[in-house]
Amino acid sequence: MARGQKTPRWLEAARRRGGAAPSPDGRSDWLARALGRAGVLPRADAEAAIREGRVEVDGRVEREPFAPVHSGSQVKVDGRARVLATASRVLMFHKPAGPVVHGSDPEGVGTVFERLRAVLPEDLLGYEWFAVGRLDRDTTGLLLFTNDERLVRHGTSPQTHLSKRYVARVVGHPGEAALQRLRDGLELEDGPTRPAQARSRALDVVELTLTEGRHHQVKRMLAAVGHPVLALHREAVGGLSLDVPEGAWRELRSEEVREGLGFLPV
Ligand code: URA
Repeated sequence: MARGQKTPRWLEAARRRGGAAPSPDGRSDWLARALGRAGVLPRADAEAAIREGRVEVDGRVEREPFAPVHSGSQVKVDGRARVLATASRVLMFHKPAGPVVHGSDPEGVGTVFERLRAVLPEDLLGYEWFAVGRLDRDTTGLLLFTNDERLVRHGTSPQTHLSKRYVARVVGHPGEAALQRLRDGLELEDGPTRPAQARSRALDVVELTLTEGRHHQVKRMLAAVGHPVLALHREAVGGLSLDVPEGAWRELRSEEVREGLGFLPV
């Protein structure tokens, strides 16, 4: 680890116990995260339950949220045996305009996590849901959620080049020259954009497909060609098109995750 970098808390906890227990399948985790991934309790609730002494691991009360566990660990919560399953679950959610894609909400406008949890059934409320990438507060459309942090990394890595299709209503009427600049790639303050697909859908509506996801990228690209965005909607990610109404969700099948996102679910 680089000098000056803080030791992660899970590693400190594992060291205090003489190293993480070896896992039969090579997968180790820490207790609170494993409970969130397995759909037993979302991470903050898991941490509270652990600190309150309600969680046992291999027959002993465990009060350390960062205690190492693996898929063979025998875990009980409130006396009930729970399986530390690691299956990847992925949800498509139609984000409305308004909520932020952040855990914290200093302005009190509401978060997409709250909106999602408000419409999920009981059996999905035990998961810790991570958003795969971000949408601006005023952007609507397809936002993926998953319990699998590997998919978050896959979906947001600059190396993956997962396509994202947006539709923007803009100021003015972008002509062919502006569309061609979007296609060719243009210079933004954080570097040149990758070649993109751009076409006109109506005089003031542009469809733009990007294979990268930099901060406010669509708005910055359209502003750079003289057509600031008035409204923005994401209608597809990879091979997946949004097909649920605003505020609604559905779970993706594993073949949709494999073929649509190029990701191998567990
Ligand atoms: N690009 C933007 O400018 N905003 C979004 O929300 C997504 C992409």
